[in-house]
Amino acid sequence: MRLLVATSNRSKRAELERLFQGSGIELLVPPRELSVEESGESFFQNAYLKARAYYETFGVPALAEDSGLVVPALGGYPGIYSSRFYQLEWGGVEKVETSEKEANIKKLLRLMEGVHDRRAYFHSCVVLYMGNAGLWAEGRCDGEVLAEARGEGGFGYDPVFRPEGHQRSMAELSPEEKDRISHRGKAVRRLLKVLCGKSLEI
Ligand code: IMP
Repeated sequence: MRLLVATSNRSKRAELERLFQGSGIELLVPPRELSVEESGESFFQNAYLKARAYYETFGVPALAEDSGLVVPALGGYPGIYSSRFYQLEWGGVEKVETSEKEANIKKLLRLMEGVHDRRAYFHSCVVLYMGNAGLWAEGRCDGEVLAEARGEGGFGYDPVFRPEGHQRSMAELSPEEKDRISHRGKAVRRLLKVLCGKSLEI
């Protein structure tokens, strides 16, 4: 089976490729990137919109993923706005000095200053769209928002997220350690279980 991966995020694509290794499913790179408006109100809706757009354009079963960091003390933000949190009016627009990633983290840490309840979780929803049929799966990774960034691995908010049961930030874990506990790892393994009918060890 071959699936088109409906994402332009290279870090996300690399994680998806690792997670599908050994599944017998080949992940294809789209011939070109589509700009799909993420107008949904949930991770599922946004992943569905992306997968459907790629399927309808290229005619190949498409796999999309939508994810983000949910912080209950911030009313669920950054949530579905995680990738462009810095530019939201909510919480004040953050100027991009070095990169969008740094601006997102800076805004999050500013809003978390003095906040006692630092619990947070990453959420991932993967959608496989095949026209007249489809599948979806979700995964969650619980932890807390750190007071400062630590580590160079991963992407996005990884340096400021400490997963439950670990003393290191997500960015300080090896790729294999992250895959084992991550929201994306759980969502993909659940999807593969339905798709292939078996659990895959990674
Ligand atoms: P999406 O491409 O709209 O799904 O945006 C996902 C955004 O959520 C990313 O740009 C990151 O900011 C954040 N995010 C999702 N998954 C992760 C992760 O595994 N680590 C760190 N940040 C993540």
